[in-house]
Amino acid sequence: MKFFLVTSIVFFHTVYASEYTQTERIHDMQKMAHAMQDIQSGFFYNNIDIVKAGAEELKETIIKIQATEAEKGTKNVYEKWMNNASAMTGRTQKRIRKYADTMLERFEDGDVNQALHVYNRITAECLKCHTTLRKW
Ligand code: HEC
Repeated sequence: MKFFLVTSIVFFHTVYASEYTQTERIHDMQKMAHAMQDIQSGFFYNNIDIVKAGAEELKETIIKIQATEAEKGTKNVYEKWMNNASAMTGRTQKRIRKYADTMLERFEDGDVNQALHVYNRITAECLKCHTTLRKW
């Protein structure tokens, strides 16, 4: 009996924890904004470790971004649009992760101009989603 109780609590927790909430997404967004600021500081202080840490944080966080459970469950006219939005999110995530690597490589090579150029492309990806999908 005890075993079943524990198992069901663990199960419930796992299911609950796997749901992506809007609160978590906002938190992840703030983490990414922070990572972008860190990267910029790394440029200014010419500190590769700061740039690297920021790029890593960005790469780890962007893959978590998705529609929330509530949004996924919507059974209305927006559903089709939502699915398109998810595909777009996937492409954006890939691009941001690739840019983060390229940016770091350029900075490591001492090519600050190219590193900054790629950094700006990441910013453009963030804003592209904000202007098109913010009402997800
Ligand atoms: C796939 C779409 C998407 C991408 C890509 C995206 N965002 Fe967001 N962002 C959102 C949405 C949607 C919100 C609104 C918050 C919510 O409803 O979850 C948001 C909100 C924010 C906020 C405000 C959070 C708050 O405190 O209210 C910040 C800061 C932010 N994003 C930063 C970024 C940065 C930096 C990047 C790029 C590295 C980025 N976002 C990329 C969709 C995106």
